[in-house]
Amino acid sequence: MKLNRPDQAGRFGAFGGSFAPETLMPALGGLESAFTDAWADDTFHAQLEHLLATFVGRPTPVYHAERMSRRLGIDLWLKREDLAHTGAHKINNTVAQGLLTKRMGKPRVIAETGAGQHGVATATACALLGLECAVYMGEKDIERQALNVYRMRLLGAEVIPVSTGAGTLKDAVSAALRDWVASVETTHYIIGSVVGPHPFPWMVREFQKVIGEELRTQLDGSPGHPAPQTIVAPVGGGSNAMGVFYPYAGDPDVDLVGVEAAGLGISSGKHGASLGHGSPGVLHGAMTYMLQDDFGQVLEAHSISAGLDYPGVGPEHSYFKDEELVRYESVTDDEAVEAFHLLCRLEGIIPALESSHALAWIIRESVALQDRTVVLNLSGRGDKDVQQIAAMYD
Ligand SMILES: Cc1ncc(COP(=O)(O)O)c(C=O)c1O
Repeated sequence: MKLNRPDQAGRFGAFGGSFAPETLMPALGGLESAFTDAWADDTFHAQLEHLLATFVGRPTPVYHAERMSRRLGIDLWLKREDLAHTGAHKINNTVAQGLLTKRMGKPRVIAETGAGQHGVATATACALLGLECAVYMGEKDIERQALNVYRMRLLGAEVIPVSTGAGTLKDAVSAALRDWVASVETTHYIIGSVVGPHPFPWMVREFQKVIGEELRTQLDGSPGHPAPQTIVAPVGGGSNAMGVFYPYAGDPDVDLVGVEAAGLGISSGKHGASLGHGSPGVLHGAMTYMLQDDFGQVLEAHSISAGLDYPGVGPEHSYFKDEELVRYESVTDDEAVEAFHLLCRLEGIIPALESSHALAWIIRESVALQDRTVVLNLSGRGDKDVQQIAAMYD
C-alpha cells in the first residue's frame, strides 16, 4: 500500500530514515517544519502554481506518438517533460525548493548534478529568485555534459568540479553534503532527486507528483484520451518515475514499470541497476537498495547516461519494489542508444539518454505490450547528449 508520508523517523517501511551527521540534524528538522508549513499554506501553493504555469510551462502536453505506435503495434503516448523549461522534469522540484529557500530566509543554494539537468534547473531557479548558487559536478560528467556546464555558468552559477571517486553523480552528492555540513546556517541544499535523508525523498516526491496528477486528467478515459494501462519511466535517483507513478501507485488497472541502466550488461558488473541487482544498505543518508560489495563498500555504477549513473535509488522506490507496486527492469547502453535514434527519426523528438532507456524497454517488450495503451514519461530532451552520441560515431 502506498503511504501518504513516511513515518516519524522518515521511513517508508524498512527504507529511508535520516542517517546524517549530527551537525545536519537541526537543519533537516528545520527543513521538515518549513516544508510542512509551506505545503499546508495556500499562499505557497498559489506562488508555486503561478510559476509552474508561467515560468515552467505546465501542464506539459501528452503527445500521441502515432508513427512509433504503428511501428510497435502499441498505443504509445509521451508525457512531454522535455518541453518543461530547461528541458527536463528537474525544474518542477528546483522552483519549489527555491521558493522554500526564500521562505527559510537562506541566501545561498548548493546542488549536485550528474547529467547537468538538475544543475541547470537549480541555476535557473536561483537566477529567477535572486539566490547565490554553487553546483557540484563530477569531472567525468563535466566532460560528457559540457553544454549543461556552460548553461549553468551563463545562469550565474559556480560549477565546482569533483575529482574524487569516479567523478560522477555519487561523488557530487557526497561533496555537496560535505559543503552543507560546513555552511548549513546560510545555505539550503536543493537535492535533485527523491534521495537523501528525510525529508528530501518525501518532499521531492510531493514536488514531482504534479506529473502524474496532470496525466490523470489528460488521459482520463474519455473518447480520444484513453487511460494508461502501462506507464514506463527511467529510474536514476527516481524523481521523474516517482512523480509520474505516485498518483497511480496501487491502481489495479495500471502497470508501473521503472527502467534502470543495465550499462554494459548486468553480468559485466558495470551497470546502475540498484533495485534490480543491488541490496539494502545506507547511501547518502537513507536506507535503500544500492550497489555494494560483501563488506558494504559502495560500488561504482556505470551508464552511458549520466543521470542514471548512480549506485543507489530513492528509498520510496525500494519500498514500492518490496510492496510490488512497481516492477523494475533494466536495459543496456546499446539498447538505449538504438531507442534514442528511433525516436529522433520516427517522431522528430530528440530524447534524453535517460528517457531513451524507458523507450528501449517498451521496444524490447512491444510484443507483450501489443495493443495496450502505454505512456512513456519522456523525462527530458536530448540536446545535452548530442555531442556524446556524435563522439560515438566519429
Ligand atoms: C532527463 C533526465 N531524466 C532522468 C534523470 C534521472 O533522474 P531521476 O531518476 O531523479 O528522474 C535525469 C537526471 O539527471 C535527467 O536529466
